[in-house]
Amino acid sequence: MTDNAPLAGKRVLLGVSGSIAAYKSADLCSRLSKLGAEVHVVMTSSAMHFVGEATMRALTRRSVMTDLFDEPHSDRIAHIDLAQSSDIVVVAPATANLIAKMAVGIADDILTTCLLAVPKSTPLLVAPAMNSLMLEHPATQHNLATLRDRGVEILATGYGVLACQDVGYGKMAEPDEIVTAINLMFSNRGDFCGKRVLVTAGPTREPLDPVRYIGNRSSGKMGYALAQAAVRRGASVILVSGPTALASPPGVELVRVQTAEQMLAECMKAAPDCNVIIGAAAVADYRPAKVADSKMKRQSGVSITIELVPNEDIIAALTSHRSPGQFIVGFAAETDNVEQNAARKLTSKGLDLVVSNDVSRPDAGFDVDTNAVTLHWPGGNSEDLPLQSKLATADHILTRIAAAMSHV
Ligand code: C5P
Repeated sequence: MTDNAPLAGKRVLLGVSGSIAAYKSADLCSRLSKLGAEVHVVMTSSAMHFVGEATMRALTRRSVMTDLFDEPHSDRIAHIDLAQSSDIVVVAPATANLIAKMAVGIADDILTTCLLAVPKSTPLLVAPAMNSLMLEHPATQHNLATLRDRGVEILATGYGVLACQDVGYGKMAEPDEIVTAINLMFSNRGDFCGKRVLVTAGPTREPLDPVRYIGNRSSGKMGYALAQAAVRRGASVILVSGPTALASPPGVELVRVQTAEQMLAECMKAAPDCNVIIGAAAVADYRPAKVADSKMKRQSGVSITIELVPNEDIIAALTSHRSPGQFIVGFAAETDNVEQNAARKLTSKGLDLVVSNDVSRPDAGFDVDTNAVTLHWPGGNSEDLPLQSKLATADHILTRIAAAMSHV
């Protein structure tokens, strides 16, 4: 499990701006305080419409900074002191407005002034929260890219029904994901330094004709979370992904493919240089034997038969060409006999670890942001991980891989 001790005694500056997601920052505040962090909250005036200063004060047992001119000590400038003495700065939620101000360096209230005074060496984590159109707007995307280039860690937003009832990306990362990200910045930072990691993710699409294909329900979220977590821990990561709706995690080399054959070719090219390979893709087991050149026409009342031929097992092909010291992990998405099937895959595919999940559970597997997986090791040991965000699950898996590799 992620080591929580690194937060003990750490000074966290938590900036809260005016989004409905500000109510979640109270939970974040509570979690950080319970982990021993010294949390200093700075709120914008709009944030105070969504969550009360008294709530944050009670959760942190410290006064909350809400006014640039409220200086408790005449001999010191409070916002400069705070910005310079923090071990980490977290902005959650970060609105489009706040992100825009950060990008251009506007300092017109207590939070933006603090943010401008944060030393370059202090890690800065931003959890955006906004309507999906605002998020997708080129201005916001440009501002986020500017912050990323400056080394700011931007957390991905979640997909779902937003406060405005629109459906899309823009939900603030959950507090447990933010805590995981903060923990990582202190604890495992660097344990994958110098390591090259190959992750496969998403479904594959096996074409029947120019418009139709055989596919599956994989969203790619688990693989993308693994790639994101590995980059944060210092790895250089290549993510070979089937078609997904997900943006490339920052710092990851993303190679997009459509079919299993393309995925195999890209993986075979990348694998020899990799220390760790994780097969999280839901690769189609079969593909149509023939792909029609033009759209197949419907013939009313006539059944058709499509001949399918097997695709090569990518992860098994990678284990059979294994470079010395390579650690290879497979996934097992099962609806029944999870334990037995995972154990069989471990042996038949020559894997070092199989991560199984029961995809018949509504809160694990396809297209949800959480997962509950079991790790199966050669020799029969297994470990159930708790239900948690896919990013936290990814982090957990990487911690176990790092430990296993250090024992080789
Ligand atoms: O045999 P099964 O498809 O259940 O195995 C799942 C594991 O094998 C996953 O790690 C998946 O990415 C990998 N796999 C693969 N190529 C295939 C089929 C599965 O890499 N053709």
